[in-house]
Amino acid sequence: MTLLELVDVTASYGPVQVIDGVSLSVPEGGSVGILGANGAGKTTTLRAISGTVRTGGRITFEGRDIRGLRPDQVAALGIAHVPEGRGTLGQLSVRENLMVGAYLRKGRKAIADDVDYCLELFPQLRDRVGSRAAALSGGEQQMLAVGRAFMAKPKLLLLDEASLGLAPSTAKTVYDAIRRLRRESGIAMLVVEQNANLAFSLVDTATVLETGRNVLTGTSAELKGMDEIRRAYLGG
Ligand SMILES: Nc1ncnc2c1ncn2[C@@H]1O[C@H](COP(=O)(O)OP(=O)(O)O)[C@@H](O)[C@H]1O
Ligand SMILES: [Mg+2]
Repeated sequence: MTLLELVDVTASYGPVQVIDGVSLSVPEGGSVGILGANGAGKTTTLRAISGTVRTGGRITFEGRDIRGLRPDQVAALGIAHVPEGRGTLGQLSVRENLMVGAYLRKGRKAIADDVDYCLELFPQLRDRVGSRAAALSGGEQQMLAVGRAFMAKPKLLLLDEASLGLAPSTAKTVYDAIRRLRRESGIAMLVVEQNANLAFSLVDTATVLETGRNVLTGTSAELKGMDEIRRAYLGG
């Protein structure tokens, strides 16, 4: 079953339209990538879904039209956004950040169990659970951002450049944990990545954006085999 579907979605900042007809779909429990150069419209596509930019076209979630909903309404339907730049709350502790993620949930025991799960998924955070988020390394902040989104118990996770600015080994650690999260939770994922090798390690299918439009869509295996993808995104 299709969980999320975008059909000919456009988005503008003021008078300037920056995405120009993006279509994609994410099946229930599936993982879909969005690839593309800087400025292609990847972040804006995620913002169109989470309701932080003005959009046209059709966006449905579980068959329901969600285009034009407020960000809090979109979140309440089960869509959690890990934004570019992470968006953790620097003055709050790691534990408090995780609790903020769970603010719409009830059930203390389940919430406490999920905090434990986050700390198991990201053991680096366990020793830092009382530290302010601002004191964490970039990698730890990314882990916290993913953990906070998980705490909302979403059906769909929007993940924007989780590897940005991280050392390769740290980026791999983050992606290994996200892969495990996907396997164990069944949460569907829409993954924006400039590092195509990392993206292909997590997604089943992907679409390539160029100047606000899809130019290619295929399975990870198909895309990895294409010369133009190898040249542009895989360093060879
Ligand atoms: N807040 C904004 N106001 C105006 N233009 C923006 C804003 N954010 C992004 N853009 C422009 O929209 C285009 C797409 O940006 P973005 O979605 O961030 O691309 P990507 O995530 O693929 O790098 C770019 O040309 C960018 O300059
Ligand atoms: Mg971006």
